[in-house]
Amino acid sequence: MGNDMLLWDETLFKNGEVLELGYLPDYFAHRDSQIQSLKFSLKPAMRNMRPVNCLIKGSPGTGKTSAVLKVLKEMKEYTENVVFVKVNCQMDSTRFAVVSQIYEQLVGIKPPTSGVAFRKLFEKAVKYLIDSNKILVVVLDDINYLFHEGHADEVMYSLLRAHEQYPGAKISIIAIISDIGVPYIFDPRVGSVFLPEEISFPLYGFDEVRDIISNRIQHAFYRDVMSDEICDRITEYVDTAGDLRVGIDLLKRSALNAERRASRSVSVEDVEKAYEASRLLYLCRNIRSLSNHEKTLLELIAKATDQQAGDLYKSFHDITGLGYTRFYEIIGKMSSSQLLDADFSGKGMRGRTRIIKSRYDSKDIMKCLE
Ligand SMILES: Nc1ncnc2c1ncn2[C@@H]1O[C@H](COP(=O)(O)OP(=O)(O)OP(=O)(O)O)[C@@H](O)[C@H]1O
Ligand SMILES: [Mg+2]
Repeated sequence: MGNDMLLWDETLFKNGEVLELGYLPDYFAHRDSQIQSLKFSLKPAMRNMRPVNCLIKGSPGTGKTSAVLKVLKEMKEYTENVVFVKVNCQMDSTRFAVVSQIYEQLVGIKPPTSGVAFRKLFEKAVKYLIDSNKILVVVLDDINYLFHEGHADEVMYSLLRAHEQYPGAKISIIAIISDIGVPYIFDPRVGSVFLPEEISFPLYGFDEVRDIISNRIQHAFYRDVMSDEICDRITEYVDTAGDLRVGIDLLKRSALNAERRASRSVSVEDVEKAYEASRLLYLCRNIRSLSNHEKTLLELIAKATDQQAGDLYKSFHDITGLGYTRFYEIIGKMSSSQLLDADFSGKGMRGRTRIIKSRYDSKDIMKCLE
């Protein structure tokens, strides 16, 4: 056995942690102007003034959440009068869930899940804020998940108008939209008080991706594990997918593939094999946020082709016992998160019928549903 084989207790990872989801990198490049805009908008808080609201937009995996977290981390060291609350709207997708998060992070106590009205909980949170003489900055991350059923407008409206009802309340919002091609316009009542500084996160260029990936390689792996050729190959995949997360996931999975072969370095085949899973990252993340009823409906849609809404409803109702209203709410939610196409087309009994299709390959959907 030559020494190009990995011993069973050896590893290619020098520090695998830097490849985990949620890791906030020290090296965060090519976003200087966006970070500057964010800092300028938040700066008034240093002088006890309400910060400027921000609207951050960009495709998945372009560094939006990371950039905001970097700035907040830095600001926290300089201010004591500002409370930052980050809400993940993919997890907390109703008005009540959002205000519960705010209350919990602000007061430090989990509010009861039932028996309290939204208004009551919101009032308590705002009173706490006024009494402690602090400024609240709410980061609504992935706010696109709040768009259906008007939740986003309700939440924004309550937060932005709080000072009218509770004088002295200073609340500002950083709304982050993961731009998946669904146009969205806030309700005019929200628009007139939101007036945000808009900050866009364009896709990274090829050289920028390569720079970020090669830096992550240096931190994650021992020398010579990933050749320049491999780095370029992964960069190409990111360039196609547009999502840097795919690249970081590829680094991890392809190195695991190499370890499985007991190899000391990653091959092109290791990367290609890894891409089969990494390319589904976005879809799986999207599906993971669905409720069980929503998953049931998606599965029904994936299993059939070009279903008419009526037939689909029948099968859905048979399994779940849920009615029309809920059915259409779910269809609406899944089309606004780009899982479905719900077109009005073809001729049905009473004019036009809705054909419902999934936007992804059924095999891929079934893989993520597993
Ligand atoms: N400029 C950068 N330098 C280093 N790493 C980066 C950079 N931009 C993004 N990343 C990395 O890419 C991954 C995705 O970034 P992030 O989660 O911030 O994207 P996002 O724009 O919020 O995506 P989404 O819209 O899907 O929420 C993270 O692991 C992050 O560390
Ligand atoms: Mg994000």
